[in-house]
Amino acid sequence: MDTHTLRLVLLFVFLVSSSLPSPTLSASSVRCNPSGKRVLLKIKKSLNNPQSLTSWNPNTNCCDWLGVSCDLQTNRVITLSFNGISIPGQIPAAIGDLPYLDTLDFVNVADLTGPIPYSITKLQNLKMLRTLLTNISGPIPEFLHQLKNLWFLDLSYSNFSGPIPASLANLPKLELLKLGGNKLTGNIPDSLWASQNRFLVLDLSQNQLSGDASALFKTNGTLSCLDLSWNEFDFDLSRVKLPESLQYMDLSHNRIRGSIPKEITGLNLYWLNVSYNRLCGEIPFGGKVQEFAHNFTGSIPYSITKLQNLEILRISDTSLSGPIPEFLSQLKCLWSLYLTYNQLSGPIPASLASLNKLQILMLYSNKLTGTIPDSFGSFKDGEYGGFTLDLSHNQLSGGIPTSINKIKVLDLSHNQIHGNIPKQLINKLDLESMDLSYNQLCGKILFGGNVQKMGAKSFAHNRCLCGHHSRTSANKPVCMQ
Ligand SMILES: *[C@@H]1O[C@H](CO)[C@@H](O)[C@H](O)[C@H]1NC(C)=O
Ligand SMILES: *[C@@H]1O[C@H](CO)[C@@H](O)[C@H](O)[C@H]1NC(C)=O
Ligand SMILES: *[C@@H]1O[C@H](CO)[C@@H](O)[C@H](O)[C@H]1NC(C)=O
Ligand SMILES: *[C@@H]1O[C@H](CO)[C@@H](O)[C@H](O)[C@H]1NC(C)=O
Ligand SMILES: *[C@@H]1O[C@H](CO)[C@@H](O)[C@H](O)[C@H]1NC(C)=O
Repeated sequence: MDTHTLRLVLLFVFLVSSSLPSPTLSASSVRCNPSGKRVLLKIKKSLNNPQSLTSWNPNTNCCDWLGVSCDLQTNRVITLSFNGISIPGQIPAAIGDLPYLDTLDFVNVADLTGPIPYSITKLQNLKMLRTLLTNISGPIPEFLHQLKNLWFLDLSYSNFSGPIPASLANLPKLELLKLGGNKLTGNIPDSLWASQNRFLVLDLSQNQLSGDASALFKTNGTLSCLDLSWNEFDFDLSRVKLPESLQYMDLSHNRIRGSIPKEITGLNLYWLNVSYNRLCGEIPFGGKVQEFAHNFTGSIPYSITKLQNLEILRISDTSLSGPIPEFLSQLKCLWSLYLTYNQLSGPIPASLASLNKLQILMLYSNKLTGTIPDSFGSFKDGEYGGFTLDLSHNQLSGGIPTSINKIKVLDLSHNQIHGNIPKQLINKLDLESMDLSYNQLCGKILFGGNVQKMGAKSFAHNRCLCGHHSRTSANKPVCMQ
């Protein structure tokens, strides 16, 4: 295990243990430092002595109080940690008078509001600051950069707004930065690019951040977890260099363009989500990538019909299931439809033939049943000189419709299609390739058109197909089984 992974593991251990009462810091062995107690009582008073802090009783050891932990040697208050309690009001300024504090942690404190007080800059030993699931608001304070020992800053799911302060880059020890679930806007400040080489975790998800985030990716970086999901980032992913250290990457719900870099197959990812972007192209094959690619499940949503300018739809090699929806015929600009290597079942909708611009229809390697629609004869000879139709590796039955003739490339192999090969198809001079193998076809393959060029393999493994299938057979009729 490298040091970063180790630090991450340690962090998780730390986070789990910090939410439990820690036996090593139990009260009996530690006496409360009087100045610490004074400050804590001042804090309680500023908060109007809330019900949740009744254990903060001046007559008892303050190291025993809810959320308080002391150092075993010095008896100083080093941790304030509140989880799931009610603290109505704002963080009192008096908190800055606990100079030994290394952890200030508010989790799930819904009624904690207002800004982070400036006095926090006095906490020069602070290593961890967390306001997770609170209503603390305002801009993320510029002055946080004065906390030179800060290693972990988590302001997630609170009510912060405005930009990410450039000064955060001046935190020399910061390795974990989590600002997700706020109302942050603007670009990621340039200064953060330079410093992110040492970040292990960067979570900016669920904000309204925009602009180019590609500079965050550095090959020699240390970044292990990157979450930029649910923002408005807009950049070309093809050009980024993914850090080898990356294990978790969520870029979903942005406006990211380009394609997924091939290097992604070399990463030891345990989480990848790039959905809901403007990415194009092939999903790189190899490594851990297919684990995630295959987990695209469910059926095609009706909302896709809103994409009235969609020209190419390609959903391949996923767990897409259910029937091919009729409503795809509403995508009038579609000229290429690829739904290959999925789990699609049921019949092929005849209405697809009403797509006037469609030139390429690839439905191979699914579980489609029923017959090839007669309407498939009405596909246009397009600007590319004919139609490409690949329905191979399904469970289609019935015959080859005689109407099918405006075809350049036809693959119906590995189905249960029976009957004869229509004469119209044989006579087609512009047929470039045809594969009818592994079906239940019968009859004589007429000699004509381009059929000789196809070779025996195109007709192999049918029920009772005979004919002049190739020149090498010396024109002797051969039946292929
Ligand atoms: C913030 O306060 C509102 C009510 O004012 C509450 O509904 C919401 O849950 C609070 N947010 C958090 C994260 O606790
Ligand atoms: C959240 O912040 C907005 C300003 O962005 C403020 O108007 C609102 O009162 C804050 N909500 C709470 C519960 O503090
Ligand atoms: C990473 O590379 C850049 C330039 O390629 C360099 O400036 C920087 O110091 C390197 N960082 C580390 C941690 O090696
Ligand atoms: C990926 O992210 C999208 C949008 O955030 C979400 O709908 C989808 O469920 C995620 N995928 C997985 C496998 O969790
Ligand atoms: C993908 O799905 C498989 C089987 O459903 C599951 O075992 C695996 O954990 C999933 N992978 C991810 C990254 O969600």
